[in-house]
Formats: sequence, C-alpha cells, structure tokens
Amino acid sequence: MAEHIFPTDSLIGLNDREVLMKQKSVVIWLTGLSGSGKSTLGRALEKKLLDEGYIAFLLDGDSLRNGLNKDLGFSIEDRNENIRRAGEGCKLLSNAGLIVITSFISPLRQQRDAIRAQFKKGCFVEVFVNASLEVCESRDVKGLYKKARAGEIKNFTGIDSPYEQPLSPELIIESDKFSEAQSLEKLYSFIQDLVKV
Ligand code: ADX
Repeated sequence: MAEHIFPTDSLIGLNDREVLMKQKSVVIWLTGLSGSGKSTLGRALEKKLLDEGYIAFLLDGDSLRNGLNKDLGFSIEDRNENIRRAGEGCKLLSNAGLIVITSFISPLRQQRDAIRAQFKKGCFVEVFVNASLEVCESRDVKGLYKKARAGEIKNFTGIDSPYEQPLSPELIIESDKFSEAQSLEKLYSFIQDLVKV
C-alpha cells in the first residue's frame, strides 16, 4: 500500500484535454493467443489512426517485457503483474489524452476485468483477436510453440498455461479467417466513432 504520498491532479482535466487534442481517449485492449496477430493488428491500427490525424500509441507485450517488465516471467503471478503494469501504463497515456492500443496475451478474465474496472464505461474496448491454437501453432512465426511442445519453454499459453477467452468482448476479430487488411478494416470501423469528440 502506498503510504505518505499525495498524488495531485493535472490542472487540465481529461475532458478539456480531449477537446484540445480533438479525440476521445479510449483504450483498445487486444487479447489473444501468441501468434494470433495482436501485435500486427495493433501496429496497423496505430498507423491508421496516426494517418487519420489521431494520436495513438501501442503498448505491446514483447516490447514492455524488453524494458519496463524485464524482471517478469510467465508464471500466473508474473503475468498478473505484467498486466497490472500495462494497465497503469494505459492510465498514464490515457490521462495524457492518447488513444491507447495494447497487445498483451492477458490470458485471464480477471486480469482484463481488473483493467476495465479502472476506466469509465465506453473508454475500455476489449477486442478478442481470435485465432485457433491449431492455426497459431501451425504458423509458429517465432518458433515458440515448437519449443513449448518440446518442453524447452514452460508455462506456454495454450500448451501448459491457460487462456480464458473473453465472455463478452466489445469486438471479436477472427484473425484466422480474414486477411490483415480485413481485420484492420473491421477494427477501425468499430472504433472510428468511439474516438471522435
Ligand atoms: S502475458 O501473458 O503476460 O500477457 P505478454 O503478452 O506480455 O504475455 O507476452 C507474450 C509474448 O511473450 C509472446 O508473444 C511470446 O513472444 C513471448 N513468450 C515467451 N514465453 C512465453 C510463454 N511461456 N507464454 C506465452 N508467451 C511467451
């Protein structure tokens, strides 16, 4: 528990900031298995938003684990902490007025719900990037599924660590049935109205 600390609010509230920045600060939380296409879709959405004149930033699992979350592994406890920090990052960027996109496996419902609970209704959009384990494993872009099957990586999501599918996400992108361009179009058209002031 934080003790003897006195957080102060910015002199510019989020509403005024949103008017200044001509956009609504929304968190677009992508969740799905490793290899489902979260990072690719997140990057593409970030670029599309910037091209359209919005200010957006992607927080990606592999990137954060390369720096801020370097000390964390893949036990449930470490993943909880990884997602908690990601959520704190979202709050900071969101308070700064940015549109935040995230790409973390975030395998447990309770992890995602805990972040959702910290945002106003409509400001947290959970997007299930749904590709079957079979497809992710057959793609195996990073070669990690092969290692996990061989026992060289422990606690691998979908193999020997759980992934709980969202029960009522705002949007499902079936990334194993659609092209990257189609997935982006579906996602962008869904969020387009949400980010307008
Ligand atoms: S999360 O579960 O804590 O949300 P996160 O999205 O940050 O995971 O990181 C997932 C990435 O870490 C994967 O895309 C993959 O490249 C890498 N990785 C390394 N080990 C594992 C593992 N045991 N399970 C899942 N992903 C792993």
